[in-house]
Amino acid sequence: MELMGCGNFLRGCFVVMVFAATLLVGPVCGIGVNWGTQSTHPLPPSTVVKMLKDNGIQKVKLFDADPDILNALKKSGIQVMVGIPNDLLYTMANSLQAAEKWVSKNVSAHVSSGGVDIRYVAVGNEPFLSTYNGTFEATTLPALKNIQSALVKAGLGNSVRVTVPLNADVYQSSSDKPSDGDFRTDIHDLMLQIVKFLSQNNAPFAVNIYPFISLYADPNFPVDYAFFNGFGSPLTDNGNIYDNVFDANYDTLVWALQKNGFGNLPIIVGEIGWPTDGDRNANVLLAQRFNQGFMSRFVAGKGTPMRPGPIDAYLFSLVDEDDKSIQPGNFERHWGLFYFDGRPKYQLNLGLRSSGLVGATGVAHLPKKWCILKPSANLNSDQLAESVSYACQNADCTSLGYGTSCSGLDVRGNISYAFNSYYQVNDQIDSACKFPGLSVVTDKDPSTPDCIFKIMIQTDSAGRIGSLRIVLFVFLFYIIV
Ligand SMILES: *[C@@H]1O[C@H](CO)[C@@H](O)[C@H](O)[C@H]1NC(C)=O
Ligand SMILES: *[C@@H]1O[C@H](CO)[C@@H](O)[C@H](O)[C@H]1NC(C)=O
Ligand SMILES: *[C@@H]1O[C@H](CO)[C@@H](O)[C@H](O)[C@H]1NC(C)=O
Repeated sequence: MELMGCGNFLRGCFVVMVFAATLLVGPVCGIGVNWGTQSTHPLPPSTVVKMLKDNGIQKVKLFDADPDILNALKKSGIQVMVGIPNDLLYTMANSLQAAEKWVSKNVSAHVSSGGVDIRYVAVGNEPFLSTYNGTFEATTLPALKNIQSALVKAGLGNSVRVTVPLNADVYQSSSDKPSDGDFRTDIHDLMLQIVKFLSQNNAPFAVNIYPFISLYADPNFPVDYAFFNGFGSPLTDNGNIYDNVFDANYDTLVWALQKNGFGNLPIIVGEIGWPTDGDRNANVLLAQRFNQGFMSRFVAGKGTPMRPGPIDAYLFSLVDEDDKSIQPGNFERHWGLFYFDGRPKYQLNLGLRSSGLVGATGVAHLPKKWCILKPSANLNSDQLAESVSYACQNADCTSLGYGTSCSGLDVRGNISYAFNSYYQVNDQIDSACKFPGLSVVTDKDPSTPDCIFKIMIQTDSAGRIGSLRIVLFVFLFYIIV
């Protein structure tokens, strides 16, 4: 069974799960996670890989092909989906040679010499989001085709599959019912060509499904329908009962595929999750409720009414990323199961080990120092608003504001939070706590039970400065002696 690994596709996966169940061990085909790296202070890749292994996680989805990360995944036994960012689609679409180079450098090299278990290449990331105004519509399919050709040419045609992770807004239903589902009219033909190409190449359809966004976008959305604990007024559709929006959304895709002649195309849920901060519906309680609800059915091998078997999915996401764009909303930096430093946020049973999440080990934080508003500072200072806005623009204030973890702070606390965020993002350098006449460094933790005043972790550059200081110190000591 070991050799079979995590089945690529649903049927293999199901056999493995049934077999595993009879042995009373967890399913071999576990959940995947998305590992994004848009952070000012990312954890070292080797720390993350150890954390993945400690948690029994066997599948990761990346958004690019960072060589340091792929090196860390070497011989880890973890299956990998590498990604091609949208801004490379144009090049990949217009040059088979560029696609071949990408595959050679970012797939073949790691597979052959490094022993990285690459299973998928994700071509683009949600390229047809309406907010992109069609920017990637002409290039996605040609890029997909070129990457597929390049994989075949590299001899990887059977072991590495292509896909395009799409946002769930590529399909819609003309009513509430999944059975009225079809692809979005403005990209209908394009979607059919993509689906046909995926089908011809034994490749899966990858879709990101976000019940949180349903709730965020529509204040009248019924809260319980976003979760998996049942819903008072479920929807009936062709004899199927829908009591959660995930099932309804997923099955809208199943119907869209079926209607267009691709009812058997495998589906991967590329992203699913719930954020813990930055919005009134983003908190640890709701995130735990959603993710555990999802995981319990996942572990039980329960799918949707239209596809009742086990599903394949990647949680979004592994760790918080404080450098992500907040254009979609302040919650965008808080999707992690773990905080940026690898501490678990809440207990979650992934069905992979007997107890809950295990945090990262060996993580070095910066010293216990915070930058806060001087107690004597004058709140009427005309520098104040500008200082706070500068700090927030260059750091992270997404935990401030209505319904967030730090919404209980008073005005002074709010300002301190902003100052501290800027100070920490800048590795506690002295000049980052020099807001004119307003700020001071303290060693007394200003955090409250709900609101954490973060201390960043040592990154490579901070580490280098640290060792430089030690070298300097030793040198001075030598001179003095
Ligand atoms: C490999 O991937 C990296 C990271 O996504 C990218 O910067 C680089 O251009 C790629 N290499 C080639 C040869 O395309
Ligand atoms: C899409 O169009 C809107 C409105 O015309 C514009 O504000 C936005 O910047 C455009 N986005 C992109 C990615 O081009
Ligand atoms: C704290 O800051 C946030 C975001 O800048 C703002 O929405 C909120 O009203 C502030 N709270 C107080 C008490 O000033």
